[in-house]
Amino acid sequence: MDKTIHQRENVFAKRENLRIFQSKNIFDTDFIPEVIIERPDFQMVIDFFDNCLRYELQGNLIIIGPSGSGKTLSVRFYGQEAERYAKDKGIDFKLIYLNCREIMSPYFFYQALLRQFGEKVPKGYGTSELVEMFINHIRDSRHVVLVLDEFDKLYSTSQEKANDIVYMLSRIKSNRDLGVAISTIMISNNVHLSENFDTPVQSSLNSKILHLGAYNAEELYHILHSRAKIGLLESAYEEGLLRYCSALTAKNSEDARFNIRLLFNAGELAEKDGEDKITETHIKNSINLTKRETETDAIERLSLNQLIVLYSLVNFKRRNNIKLIPVKTTYCEAYKLICKQVGYEEITYPHFWRLVNSLGQYDLVYSLLQTPKQGGFRRVVELNVDEEAVEKIFKIKIA
Ligand SMILES: Nc1ncnc2c1ncn2[C@@H]1O[C@H](COP(=O)(O)OP(=O)(O)OP(=O)(O)O)[C@@H](O)[C@H]1O
Ligand SMILES: [Mg+2]
Repeated sequence: MDKTIHQRENVFAKRENLRIFQSKNIFDTDFIPEVIIERPDFQMVIDFFDNCLRYELQGNLIIIGPSGSGKTLSVRFYGQEAERYAKDKGIDFKLIYLNCREIMSPYFFYQALLRQFGEKVPKGYGTSELVEMFINHIRDSRHVVLVLDEFDKLYSTSQEKANDIVYMLSRIKSNRDLGVAISTIMISNNVHLSENFDTPVQSSLNSKILHLGAYNAEELYHILHSRAKIGLLESAYEEGLLRYCSALTAKNSEDARFNIRLLFNAGELAEKDGEDKITETHIKNSINLTKRETETDAIERLSLNQLIVLYSLVNFKRRNNIKLIPVKTTYCEAYKLICKQVGYEEITYPHFWRLVNSLGQYDLVYSLLQTPKQGGFRRVVELNVDEEAVEKIFKIKIA
């Protein structure tokens, strides 16, 4: 038996012949490259950090743009640059990054902030004690920049709770006893974000707004090119292939993340076929897989409340074997029951309807109005989602 092991080629030695990738983790969504493709709009992000570093100016920036338009990357990249500059120059500057996807209340919010300082919250503490703890941590700093990514997801829990969070934060910012400047960057892909803010929040924020548009095929190509250079072997692709890939993406979604993933999947396919060059056929054959992965990613990135709403729609549709799902009936006959089963606080019907609409933003549902015979209208939706995937993610995250 020993002999056979030595005679045959090692499983991994055989894989050494696969000649497509230089590195695979540079294709990860969270990967921050050493250089990024600049777009003129990023200047506002640079100016924002510059004001923090050199003039200790307390500011608030809201960045809005569609999926894969470089919102997270630009803030993380220039934020890192700002941290490095501050370190070199001995400037007291702290950057805190928080994703709002799973923040359900002011308590969760401050708990997550404190976690960034390596602090565990003792049992029995209330929100105001957490706020105190947070203030104590930043009291001796000069400038703290708080990045709140996927900020709109905060509003999927409750408009009131989200406004409470923002309002409390603005109160800390205006506390004159604290010598620290606190700036915030809020990132969202919902253009209607600020409609959620109530008036005191609006006025306390006094924000600059940066609207980032989707990338065009040329920009997608340059981003892909810079990624291919560090992720693929030079011999594994031609520039024309990257142009082909970017043109296909531009037709489908204009999302830089989709484009990078499409190239990665095509590379894996070429590798599986034992080839040493990625072809247009590999790209074409990876489109469906990439679409499915992007959809699963969108479901995984939903806030917990959005996920329960989506699961209720799936559940009601399946139980009644229908295509067009009535929203109000789903709320009464599926949503409320599911909340009870998983021990979640119910939201009101108007809030439920808002969340159904927010799912449309990710193309997971299409909403329509139906006019029944007796007059009036009825809100119905059609699902555009892999129902099994919704069920699976719901079970992992909630049930
Ligand atoms: N200008 C750029 N230069 C290099 N890579 C980029 C650039 N813009 C985006 N990317 C890459 O494209 C992908 C998507 O970008 P990013 O995560 O910033 O999107 P986003 O706007 O935050 O999208 P979402 O709203 O879905 O969170 C990431 O892998 C990122 O590294
Ligand atoms: Mg992002």
